[in-house]
Amino acid sequence: MSSVIINGKEIGQEIRTGVATRVKKLKEQGITPGLAVILVGDNPASKTYVANKQKSCEQIGMYSELVKLPEEISEQALLEQIRELNERASIHGILVQLPLPKHINEDKVIQTISPEKDVDGFSPISVGKMMLGQDTYLPCTPYGVMKMLEHTGIDVAGKHAVIVGRSHIVGKPMGQLLLQKDATVTYTHSKTPDLPYFTKQADILIAAVGRANFITSEHIKEGAVVIDVGINRNEDNRLCGDVDFEDVLGIASHITPVPGGVGPMTITMLLENTVQAAEKELE
Ligand code: GUN
Repeated sequence: MSSVIINGKEIGQEIRTGVATRVKKLKEQGITPGLAVILVGDNPASKTYVANKQKSCEQIGMYSELVKLPEEISEQALLEQIRELNERASIHGILVQLPLPKHINEDKVIQTISPEKDVDGFSPISVGKMMLGQDTYLPCTPYGVMKMLEHTGIDVAGKHAVIVGRSHIVGKPMGQLLLQKDATVTYTHSKTPDLPYFTKQADILIAAVGRANFITSEHIKEGAVVIDVGINRNEDNRLCGDVDFEDVLGIASHITPVPGGVGPMTITMLLENTVQAAEKELE
């Protein structure tokens, strides 16, 4: 079977064009959507992600502010910084790039972000609302995957979605969003014995384990939709996903590449969430 390669860059661009139009309308009414990105320390991957997020904001006319803090900053000082941004009217969304240094309690930090500005959708209030199917900011990566499936014309209702990985950021919310669209959802993870037994049943396989080329042809059913959320580096220091792309190509009906698959969708949904936050000013 020839696999359709889902182009996240193209789908993301299409959505961004719509978001840019909304930014323009907001600006005409005197509101410039603003995103604050807090980066603690010098993690090179985090620096790249943050730079991409900022560039994307600027490309569609949004305001973005980078708050760069030293690795040694105290938890208290970081919380103070977040509280200041919570109060600032020109900032509609706040994102704290993860992971944080070990001496800082991530849960405490995330809980300090005002739910009205939690455009990452990571706070307990956002997560609770998502679980209940209430209106809230959805976490950008799973939200982006849902948009990607929708734009590709893949109806998830009644399909068996198998998720590999149970992180708070991707795996867990991914299952919830698929469930809300009537998929049958199975969660698997690092302690699941005989992983291929489960993944081979997937009509839709979501790979979110964070291990380079971990999912191979032995895990995939002929005709499955394969969504690769991983961003890893292989032995040659090249970007690669959790799925061995070449090995799975020709077995999957659809597959997302890395780079150019889920990554651009994640940033797109961050822009969408921030613009949505700014639009609330008009309500
Ligand atoms: N680190 C890796 N992915 C993410 C993300 O989506 N948001 C934040 N804040 N940090 C991350």
